[in-house]
Amino acid sequence: MQPDVITLDGPAASGKSSVARLVAARLGRTYVNTGNMYRAMTWAVLAQGVDPANPESVRAAAAAVQLDSPVADGQTQVRVDGRVLTTDDLNSDAVNAGVSLVARVPEVRERLVSDQRALVALGPLVMEGRDIGSVVFPDSRLKFYIDASEEVRAARRRAQGHADQVAERDRLDSTRKSSPLVVPEGAQVIDNSHLTLEQAVEVVLAGVAERLA
Ligand code: DC
Repeated sequence: MQPDVITLDGPAASGKSSVARLVAARLGRTYVNTGNMYRAMTWAVLAQGVDPANPESVRAAAAAVQLDSPVADGQTQVRVDGRVLTTDDLNSDAVNAGVSLVARVPEVRERLVSDQRALVALGPLVMEGRDIGSVVFPDSRLKFYIDASEEVRAARRRAQGHADQVAERDRLDSTRKSSPLVVPEGAQVIDNSHLTLEQAVEVVLAGVAERLA
């Protein structure tokens, strides 16, 4: 059976989180931000004093972390060892700097991909990330890839108050061996550089309606 998941993939700060959240609200679907799951794992690994650049230590530390995804207000949150992490926890400079390193460890990816697949039990989803249409739900009919120019993405990141190295994270995310960022087969590509948020949401909603017709 086909999973009832709208997948949205794309590079850092392409605007996909805002688009995904609104699409989910419009369609009454649960919104899942998988970047936050990788961020939570990074937070937990850092809390154990582990260097994210050391894959062996990351693998061992991650295996001990309890992570789950309770739903509140139509979206999943991330809970680590019983504590729901805040936006500040998930977007700290240390997490920004370490998350691409943690996310390239194959055992971390296998574990989180399996957790992400299990979330279909929640009902219809909008799930965003880097490998959702390519690896997590390759059989979905509702795949989208949201892109934006590097300049626009860096400006959006600055406007959010994050001094994040977007270009460096993209380089790591696109060149890693395990599930690199790619345009999933069958995905509708949307260049969001010159669209308003509302326009981008409308393009996705029209694409969903067309594919379901
Ligand atoms: O979407 P984001 O920028 O919050 O994601 C944080 C990092 O997590 C990103 O640099 C790569 C990784 N990630 C991933 O590897 N696979 C996903 N499905 C989602 C995020």
